[in-house]
Amino acid sequence: MVKSRSSYVCQNCGAITQRWQGKCESCGEWNTIIEEAAALGIGGAAARRGGAGRPFPLEDLSGASRPELRVATGIAELDRVAGGGFVPGSATLIGGEPGIGKSTLLIQACAAVARAGGRVIYVSGEESTAQVRLRAARLGLADAPVQLAAQTLVEDIVATMGSGDAPRFVVIDSIQTMWSDAIESAPGTVSQVRGSAQALIRFAKSSGAALLIVGHVTKDGQIAGPRVVEHMVDAVFSFEGDGAHAFRLLRAAKNRFGATDEVGVFEMTGAGLAEVPNPSALFLAGRDGRASPGAAVFAGVEGARPLLVEIQALVAPTTLGTPRRAVVGWEPSRLAMVLAVLESHGGLKLGQYDVYLNVAGGLKVAEPAADLAAAAALVSSLTGAALPHDAVYFGEIALSGSVRAVAHTGLRLKEAAKLGFTTAFAPAPPRAEGESMRIAAKPIASVASLVALIAAAGVEAKSVPRAVERARSGVTN
Ligand code: TYD
Ligand code: MG
Repeated sequence: MVKSRSSYVCQNCGAITQRWQGKCESCGEWNTIIEEAAALGIGGAAARRGGAGRPFPLEDLSGASRPELRVATGIAELDRVAGGGFVPGSATLIGGEPGIGKSTLLIQACAAVARAGGRVIYVSGEESTAQVRLRAARLGLADAPVQLAAQTLVEDIVATMGSGDAPRFVVIDSIQTMWSDAIESAPGTVSQVRGSAQALIRFAKSSGAALLIVGHVTKDGQIAGPRVVEHMVDAVFSFEGDGAHAFRLLRAAKNRFGATDEVGVFEMTGAGLAEVPNPSALFLAGRDGRASPGAAVFAGVEGARPLLVEIQALVAPTTLGTPRRAVVGWEPSRLAMVLAVLESHGGLKLGQYDVYLNVAGGLKVAEPAADLAAAAALVSSLTGAALPHDAVYFGEIALSGSVRAVAHTGLRLKEAAKLGFTTAFAPAPPRAEGESMRIAAKPIASVASLVALIAAAGVEAKSVPRAVERARSGVTN
């Protein structure tokens, strides 16, 4: 036996030191280093078996010895992110904040796979089987032939899964609750998380089960415990959303068997997670029936998926010495830049105004392509001129005031056309991509022309015939 000795492991980054330290020199975090017993050294297990390795069957590269190529759950949004279902023998880590819906999604996936046939096991380390059963019943899944366990000791879990038919689909909820006999530290520590994940992944590889591991994330969105688990698995998904809104996004941060730009969209309902095949419709659902100043529809792209969302701005005279700039769902620095460009190149004076910007529906937009939509919403709010109700905006604003082309122009135009938008204000496309579609692409070359366009439309809207027309159609403003 290798004598076990202690080492000191940073719970944030997994770095190992020989002495305890208040600050981890590797990641710079404070009070994250704790003492852990070292696991059995390399060769420990072989030494116990008497020193000799055992031969194992070799497989064909063609996969001929693995009859099933993918385990599809039938939940299209999940299967698509996985790259067309889960690969047998692969391990996938699904991270997300507590309460976001990881357990709900996975029990739904388990039930769907089990109903299609094959052995499906759901191991919860957080809830009792009664609790899991209760949730399944609420979701109408009580009759699905899923095998349940509320266990946390990985040796027992592996032994149980290994007896009987080889499982097709296994969910471990969550890795932070698992612990191994061979490791002396407490559950949830880096060594335990790493050791447990190793044992489970080894089982998946040898049995051919598709393994899904739930991982909690810390406040800053990292999967708690060692980053090494992320390196051990084949795919890492994050399940995101915010508590105040019903939509959830499943993203692949890493995927050995699929594209990482896929995004699955779900809505949390009273009956569990529902797929959202048309996310733009969901995000635009709360839109006012009439055009109101300060709202612009951004034709965005999440991953490889077009997503239309409303960007709302409020520009109001300030009562403060330093005007407020507040933003939800977008980068504050991006807002500051767009405001500076509007002042320098659009001729606007914003120093006496508070500025609020909000991305509707709780979505977080990271694309620079949102610049033009944000600018349009800001100018619209400042001038009081509503933007056309059937127009979308996209384009990146440069510090020079010019509007630059962005990726996926065709995808954005197509989605906007599909949802009934008739005009897209965008940088001049390199090719006439909008031509074949039922949408007119109006090129906007600079911030100055955007401001001029919106201001001109504002004057037009205040003209008598328009006002009469609006009054007739029952719209009051
Ligand atoms: P859960 O799957 O337990 O989250 P996680 O495993 O990521 O911690 O989801 C918990 C939340 O989801 C809880 O606040 C209740 C809500 N929920 C619904 O709104 N509808 C449902 O059908 C279910 C099962 C949960
Ligand atoms: Mg859970």
